Amino acid sequence: VTISDQTFERGPQGATHQTATGDTPTLTTQQGVPVSDDQNSQKAGAHGATLLEDFHFREKIFHFDHERIPERVVHARGYGAHGFFELTDSLADYTTASVLGKIGKRVPAFVRFSTVAGARGSSDMVRDVRGFAVKLYTEEGNWDLVGNNIPVFFIQDAIKFPDMVHAVKEEPDSGFPQAQSAHDNFWDFASLSPETVHMLMWVMSDRAIPRSFRFMEGFGVHTFRLVNAEGKSTYVKFHWKPKQGLQSVVWNEAVKINGADPDFHRRDLWDAINSGDFPEWELGVQLFDDDFADKFDFDILDATKLIPEELVPVRRIGRLVLNRTVDNFFAETEQVAFCTQNVVPGIAFTNDPLLQGRNFSYLDTQTKRLGGPNFTHIPINAPKCPFHNFQQDGHMAMHNPKGRANYEPNSWGMGPRENPQTGYKPYAEDVNGRKTRERGELFADHYSQARQFYASQTPTEQAHIKNAFVFELSKCLTPAIRARVVAHLLNVDETLAKGVAEGLRLEKMPSPAPAARTPLTDLPA
Ligand code: HEM
Repeated sequence: VTISDQTFERGPQGATHQTATGDTPTLTTQQGVPVSDDQNSQKAGAHGATLLEDFHFREKIFHFDHERIPERVVHARGYGAHGFFELTDSLADYTTASVLGKIGKRVPAFVRFSTVAGARGSSDMVRDVRGFAVKLYTEEGNWDLVGNNIPVFFIQDAIKFPDMVHAVKEEPDSGFPQAQSAHDNFWDFASLSPETVHMLMWVMSDRAIPRSFRFMEGFGVHTFRLVNAEGKSTYVKFHWKPKQGLQSVVWNEAVKINGADPDFHRRDLWDAINSGDFPEWELGVQLFDDDFADKFDFDILDATKLIPEELVPVRRIGRLVLNRTVDNFFAETEQVAFCTQNVVPGIAFTNDPLLQGRNFSYLDTQTKRLGGPNFTHIPINAPKCPFHNFQQDGHMAMHNPKGRANYEPNSWGMGPRENPQTGYKPYAEDVNGRKTRERGELFADHYSQARQFYASQTPTEQAHIKNAFVFELSKCLTPAIRARVVAHLLNVDETLAKGVAEGLRLEKMPSPAPAARTPLTDLPA
């Protein structure tokens, strides 16, 4: 950093006056009016009252007063960077999406990593899920892959999301804890909702205290569809695999790092990129068809389940490189708006009830958070391909239609017009059924994959999971809730359940929680 050698003058009261000279531009108001003095407000005499007519002073304070916007209702604390995505293996047989078609194709990318529960000003190194949201600016529009660093989710149906988030966040009367799962409400909700058990295992594992954003995996979580030129659909799960490897800290380190530097993760990403050590991930896909889906032990629409990589290997098809930090944190990282419904032709949704709810939620919340329907005009959110439509007006409209026509069809020969060849088409899925609130029968086994995950861990990692359960549950002060969690763990692993019960000094071992569907016993460990 070079310190400017610009000269300055001291005013009569000692204030520093740096004036516009040479290349330094003149300070102006928002209206472009040049400012003569930015150190002193206008007063009626040196000891007089401040004058209402001082428009520069009023504009400056007014703007400052309005600097804060609502923080994200979840994932409030995050950090973003720019980069690119490059395709290394073509999926042209499976999808018409141009970004997945031609080997070597590069598109710009913006990624925001985040914690979920904490407020915007909370700490980086808490035990939490990490968001891994990727925006690819493709030539067919923006494709957002709004994922996490854990491949499954707490709940199966979006209707439970407000309950889950309320239970995770601070309690409404006390206002704490601000950024962790260590309290009665969280464990109450989790223990009353057995579908959370698989995700709980991941969250109590070392995955939830990553060493840095650079050493995390990312997952699209839901089953999506790829659709090819013949209209054929293939199911797909998306993965990001870090070239840096997968690394976490241990809890003891996490607590110390948080105390010493609550910005540890954002500083790490900033420093790495600015020193030329660009983090890189491979995009991986698990592809499968209806036959696999029908034979699979779980419903592929259930976001609390993953597809084991032993059954469907991850095929690496591209690389994501982050090589540029933001120019302005607020303009880019805070104002970026990811949304699961931002997909491009050749990528389609499934009926996963969590995904369907997300498709509504993001646009809705961003309309509020970013002040109206025109937040796609903010440069970080705008597509980098040409875009044309007849949408107009609303707060801060930057792209109103030009000319006489703002509708179509019209007789004035004025576009834009729909395009049956290149336009987005939903996957033509047959839909037939009774209206119901029932979930599919296969959604009911909440323990098998939790057990499989636990069994896949090394003894050291298993000990970390046990210790995390003991530590986090020790902050839950209601014995019946602790016992309820242990009752679930008995369906996952008896040694783990006993270890947690001992660590918590439970007076009596509970019976295993009733399982709505018998856990499978023959899953590969
Ligand atoms: C924000 C991931 C489920 C609602 C986010 C962000 C990520 C994410 C990464 C942060 C985006 C950013 O960096 O700006 C996920 C994943 C989910 C999930 C992986 C499950 C698989 C849900 C559900 C809902 C929801 C079920 C609601 C029904 C929201 C909202 C935001 C958000 C409202 C804030 C968006 C904003 O203000 O810009 N989610 N989420 N999420 N998520 Fe989710």
